Amino acid sequence: MKLPLRYALTLPVAALLIAAGCYSNHRAGAIPGEPPLDPALVAQGKAIFRDDTFGDEAFWTDALGMHQVIASAVDPTTALSVGLKVDAEALPPAVVQGIQSGAISLTDPATTVALLKLNAVVGVKGTVESVNGKDTLTRVGITCALCHSTVDDSFAPGIGRRLDGWANRDLNPGAIIALSPAVPSGAKAVYASWGKGRYDPRFNLDGQNGPQVIPPAYGLLGVHSVTATGDGSDLAYWNRYVAVTQMGGQGSFSEPRTGVSVTHGTTDLVSAKLPALQAYQLSLTAPRPPAGSFDAAAAVRGKAVFDGPGKCATCHSGPALTDANIRLHPPSEVVSEPEPAGVPSYASRSATRQYRTAPLAGLWQHAPYFHNGTAPSLDAVVETYDARKGLGLTSAQKADLVQYLKSL
Ligand code: HEC
Ligand code: HEC
Repeated sequence: MKLPLRYALTLPVAALLIAAGCYSNHRAGAIPGEPPLDPALVAQGKAIFRDDTFGDEAFWTDALGMHQVIASAVDPTTALSVGLKVDAEALPPAVVQGIQSGAISLTDPATTVALLKLNAVVGVKGTVESVNGKDTLTRVGITCALCHSTVDDSFAPGIGRRLDGWANRDLNPGAIIALSPAVPSGAKAVYASWGKGRYDPRFNLDGQNGPQVIPPAYGLLGVHSVTATGDGSDLAYWNRYVAVTQMGGQGSFSEPRTGVSVTHGTTDLVSAKLPALQAYQLSLTAPRPPAGSFDAAAAVRGKAVFDGPGKCATCHSGPALTDANIRLHPPSEVVSEPEPAGVPSYASRSATRQYRTAPLAGLWQHAPYFHNGTAPSLDAVVETYDARKGLGLTSAQKADLVQYLKSL
């Protein structure tokens, strides 16, 4: 029997659409029912995301003394080794030349201070003043970009153009905090144990230790449930949480469900910035997979596995491939629990005690997967689902499903 032409064409056409990137309707920036973003607000939010510390110098400078740690012990080589990134576009030509020729030392902390003076260290804001004729770092604070931006390495590893919204999976926030002489040794051991790309945004409040993989801050337009546990219904909720309780910004956060209630200072430097900060993040679309990074025909077959025998679409549904706007899931339904041995359930520490189905756009970009990073690759994700949910997928189906996930 001959196939009607329109069926015979379906597969190759769909494959071409995927290869051209037109297939992913969740990437267009326009999500049905979402109001358009105000460009002026987005621009304000970008400046806040990159450069605003919300007055958290009170924590990083006054409490932790990080300005002294940096000035005495953090040369650029050390800074890059703990995952800090340098914004190449903030470097004047003379500095670029000096780095290339070796005239500027990368093993002298004074160079770090010079980079901070140029506002070239992504997510770290320094105040550099002349003290007795010498450039001196007097204040230091952090911004959202520290964890949620990286660079494209176009100049050198760790030095390049900013990629906002991409999680900095090289950053070792725990190792950085552990450098502070003000951190007691018990807490220091916990911070030092996290490793790169991970951070526990609840440890300082509940004393439990279970670091989370730093997630992307892109691809969240239309997802009205934020964080791995869906604690808030909009980004501003969590942005306030992090700005106040984690970064040490001046303002208040209060959550009756967990009993967290924190106020820093007497002037609120957070609240007024939240609408713009949220608009900027919502404007960040997930990056498309690089050309040739997946097999387009296999991805089309993989989508059929996702919708069919894989049962993935029962939770990963809708334009952002998540049912987050409808429901959350108890840990018993979620394959990333139980946590690795000795780690407390992350859900149990959250406001909802459940998990949000993760949106999937830009998956190719941000291994490892799941809130706790227990799946190092998309192959591991699929193997985990197959085993834990008893799906009985064939190895061909699993391979196709992986190609589909890489295409998102
Ligand atoms: C020290 C690293 C760090 C800093 C600084 C930081 N974050 Fe995060 N961020 C995380 C981690 C870890 C999570 C995961 C928390 C979770 O899911 O429970 C997270 C989660 C998020 C999410 C949720 C993403 C989603 O899929 O729902 C958003 C949005 C976000 N952060 C934005 C921000 C903004 C805006 C700032 C600045 C106010 C900021 N973050 C500062 C580490 C950081
Ligand atoms: C019962 C609902 C449910 C089903 C069915 C389901 N998922 Fe998930 N998925 C989730 C939840 C919840 C998370 C977040 C888990 C976490 O953060 O640890 C998740 C996370 C993921 C992630 C990790 C995303 C990230 O950013 O780290 C991938 C990839 C994924 N799922 C793919 C699949 C595939 C493929 C299938 C089908 C084989 C599937 N899921 C079936 C609910 C589901």
